[in-house]
Amino acid sequence: MFNKKTIDDIDVRGKNVVVRCDFNVPLKEGKITDDTRIVAALPTIKKLIADGGRVILCSHLGKPKGTVKEELTLAPVAQRLSELLGQDVKFAKDNEVVGENARKAAAEIKDGEVVLLENTRFRPEEEKNGEDLSKDLASLGQIFVNDAFGTAHRAHASTVGVANFVEVAVVGYLMEKEINFLGNAVDNPVRPFAAVLGGSKVSSKISVIDNLLEKVDILVIGGAMAYTFVKAAGGKVGKSLVEDEYLEYAANMVKKAADKGVKLLLPVDTVVAPEISDDAPFKTVDIMEIPDDMIGVDIGEKTIELFADALKDAKTVIWNGPMGVFETKNFAKGTEAVAKVLADLDAVTIIGGGDSAAAVNQLGFGDKMTHISTGGGASLEFLEGKGLPGVDIIAEK
Ligand code: 3PG
Repeated sequence: MFNKKTIDDIDVRGKNVVVRCDFNVPLKEGKITDDTRIVAALPTIKKLIADGGRVILCSHLGKPKGTVKEELTLAPVAQRLSELLGQDVKFAKDNEVVGENARKAAAEIKDGEVVLLENTRFRPEEEKNGEDLSKDLASLGQIFVNDAFGTAHRAHASTVGVANFVEVAVVGYLMEKEINFLGNAVDNPVRPFAAVLGGSKVSSKISVIDNLLEKVDILVIGGAMAYTFVKAAGGKVGKSLVEDEYLEYAANMVKKAADKGVKLLLPVDTVVAPEISDDAPFKTVDIMEIPDDMIGVDIGEKTIELFADALKDAKTVIWNGPMGVFETKNFAKGTEAVAKVLADLDAVTIIGGGDSAAAVNQLGFGDKMTHISTGGGASLEFLEGKGLPGVDIIAEK
């Protein structure tokens, strides 16, 4: 049960509230191409406004690595937020993040007003959880709210350090919602409980597989990581992505799943192509027989059927990672099919952030899922069973 202090436990009227959001949104030529994370932050911001708080928002954007990169300014976020909130969000442009401009804005802000600071990663101390920036941020207010679930796995100045220098630190509604959905699904699932894992590398999912094998009834593995399992089982993988150093691990996982009575499903057929491009020729072959000059790029029709059948009675499903190279149109069918299967299920469906969330949203299935996480790396670390520093730093109720 999530038991951290939240914005419902504090009185913000007349106080400066420093709120860490995850406004790390995709940009193209200075324009925001997906505002999901901004929309997801609105409930917390609106609540603080309604309660008469003086809201000072901050976030990172991209990876400027401690230097000022004009193209990574948060100015477009301030504009989009103003539109979404229907009130002016003052952008405190400031290369030092907390410099003269930000201090002035924080001194002048009135109850119910909103200010957005510049990209916290313009400061080199941010990613080192440096004390100078932590104290600078804390100096702008009395209360700190961490609502940046997407960045909760990073122990940075604006996610962790700042909490040590304010009177009160709490989480916001988005953080609470994310942890509740993911936590309930993992620790208290309605069964049968299935996990669908994809993506390119076994190595990046090892801890997730280890942790989930202890909890799920069904484990479905697709995406390029499946080819390491195929090779471990003696199959021919052609030029597919394989991590040879994880062959033994993969073989052990198959055995462990069997020992535990977990139904582990791997692809039985695969779409192959000589290269990954929109106009490459492609065909479907048996999973164990990928030709030498071919790359496995997606799950095949039989696999889609197999996975759909295995998931049809599931009551809780967590999905993380695409089934193929879904950015390439011809190799997106497996990912699309799994998204559709989940959308049609009468089950709790939780989509880990990143690629699977993008795929579900692109396909228009967003509102058919129980919860789509705003955190890619963060949801993965959560599924690994690790604590999230940005949450751990907040006191319990
Ligand atoms: C994300 O997009 O996953 C978060 O905003 C964290 O970003 P980072 O991987 O650059 O730390």
